[in-house]
Amino acid sequence: MNAQTLSRIELESAGFSLKGTGVHYGRARLPGRRSYLFSHMGAEKGAEYDRLYQTDPWHIYAWQQEQATLLRILATYYRNQHIKLLDFACGTARITSFLEDKVDEAVGVDVSESMLAVAERKVKRAKLLHANLLKDNLLAGEKFNLITAFRFFPNAEPALRNAALEVLTSLLSENGCLVLNNHINRQSMFHLYYRLKNSIARRTHRPTFSMGDCREMLFRWKLKITRVYSVGLLHIPHYQLPQALLRADDLGSCSSWLAACSESPTIVCRHRR
Ligand SMILES: C[S@@+](CC[C@H](N)C(=O)[O-])C[C@H]1O[C@@H](n2cnc3c(N)ncnc32)[C@H](O)[C@@H]1O
Repeated sequence: MNAQTLSRIELESAGFSLKGTGVHYGRARLPGRRSYLFSHMGAEKGAEYDRLYQTDPWHIYAWQQEQATLLRILATYYRNQHIKLLDFACGTARITSFLEDKVDEAVGVDVSESMLAVAERKVKRAKLLHANLLKDNLLAGEKFNLITAFRFFPNAEPALRNAALEVLTSLLSENGCLVLNNHINRQSMFHLYYRLKNSIARRTHRPTFSMGDCREMLFRWKLKITRVYSVGLLHIPHYQLPQALLRADDLGSCSSWLAACSESPTIVCRHRR
């Protein structure tokens, strides 16, 4: 499936009913060509994305910290449990391939062929789906007790976020956890620095997503945040801090409040009862 086919399919998919959000995905609000849905369709996207995590010091560090966080989440919430994982917007299977041998069943889903081409080379056991669940929920009726969605929600436009949460909340089991991250956290030191610098220079700042926005988005879908883990509490622009100082994240993760000030916090949420 290429970007063009998907676009046609999307155009045919008018009428998502976003129950509970007050948003109706009617004809006027179809995902346009600028929707985040199409962001990773380019033929080189998969390779470029993967390269970032192999070469860029910040991404390498953040990924190490995220791996440690995912292990903590498994130890805290899933001890002796059968784990059925859905990695939504799995991209090149960064999360899927790390978790697949630590869970019992794993499925990764993405709309981008080029991202999935890289993913296929990495996974051993997990099933990969090339699909847009927001239109055709191929997994309808199944329940997952662990759903991950990394680097998706902060970038997605509000209608796409809501469409995704409508599907993901229906697939999340009663006691399951949805684990997402906010890699453009407005409250982080890194983004505060850039916002200040750009406002002095009267330049526009690239979009950020606040933890308040995130909490509100989840609340509308009857999800509550149970824990926030720190990733990049001390990431300072243009300055490569020694690994020992970056470990402030370990301290940050002791308090959800402190972790919410890190650059790319990992957020665990569950259904609100
Ligand atoms: C920045 S990548 C993140 C990949 C992976 N989760 C990670 O953290 O490495 C965002 C991914 O979201 C995917 N995406 C966007 N809209 C989607 C949708 N409706 N369903 C599934 N994947 C989607 C894109 O194709 C892209 O691969």
